[in-house]
Amino acid sequence: SRCFAIVPAAGSGSRMKSEQPKQYLSLLGQPLIRHTLAALCAAPVIDRVYVVLSVGDQEWDKHDWRPFGDRLVPLFCGGASRADSVLNGLRAIADDTSEYDWILVHDAARPCLAPWHVESLVRELLHDEVGGILAVPVADTLKREDSTHRVAATVPREGLWQAQTPQMFRNVMLKRALESARNVTDEASAIEAMGLRPRLVRGDPTNLKVTFPLDLHLAEWILQHRED
Ligand code: CTP
Ligand code: MG
Repeated sequence: SRCFAIVPAAGSGSRMKSEQPKQYLSLLGQPLIRHTLAALCAAPVIDRVYVVLSVGDQEWDKHDWRPFGDRLVPLFCGGASRADSVLNGLRAIADDTSEYDWILVHDAARPCLAPWHVESLVRELLHDEVGGILAVPVADTLKREDSTHRVAATVPREGLWQAQTPQMFRNVMLKRALESARNVTDEASAIEAMGLRPRLVRGDPTNLKVTFPLDLHLAEWILQHRED
């Protein structure tokens, strides 16, 4: 079975509070999403990279994507939620993929994906029955609030992980999971809702998601200080 990447990039980036959707904000002089796509296209294990853009995307065609060749395929079929965008993408590529191919779903908003992140994930999961996700152990102490914003409980962080992407599942299993899922914020939750247990593969915090303005500065620092 082969490995394909699907990159949901049809969000509006509301928490970023910027003019443009965050995937097109400049990061080291290039659109943020270009770093993300370059990392995936450079991974030898990935056969093709599909990027899911919003139907009315005005920005994609303003850039030159030819250097990526035919390994990169844009799909203008984004949905109302991240899960809808991924599902629309899966439907759009159905004729070019087989049921048992692996799909790596990776946020456009995670531009600091490193080669070893992809390599670890695929190495650990290639023969797995379910699939799994990159994740990092939670570092902070966690509090559960009551209705008055007082601490109702301290949640022990032991055994808690922060989910990242890529999230890697079989084509047909992922499609079924997302078709029956409601309000999921990642692929793994949809798989979990079917009673399956995705594997946690340890990544590291440099694979951050650009969500708030500060994250853009952190991402810039991480890319600049990467040794490769
Ligand atoms: N995404 C998508 N389709 C949507 C919503 C989100 O493809 N309808 C993508 C985003 O473009 C992003 C990834 O899913 O690459 C992760 O989502 P998130 O960080 O929440 O991005 P946004 O939804 O754009 O940001 P916000 O939630 O702050 O509005
Ligand atoms: Mg969002």
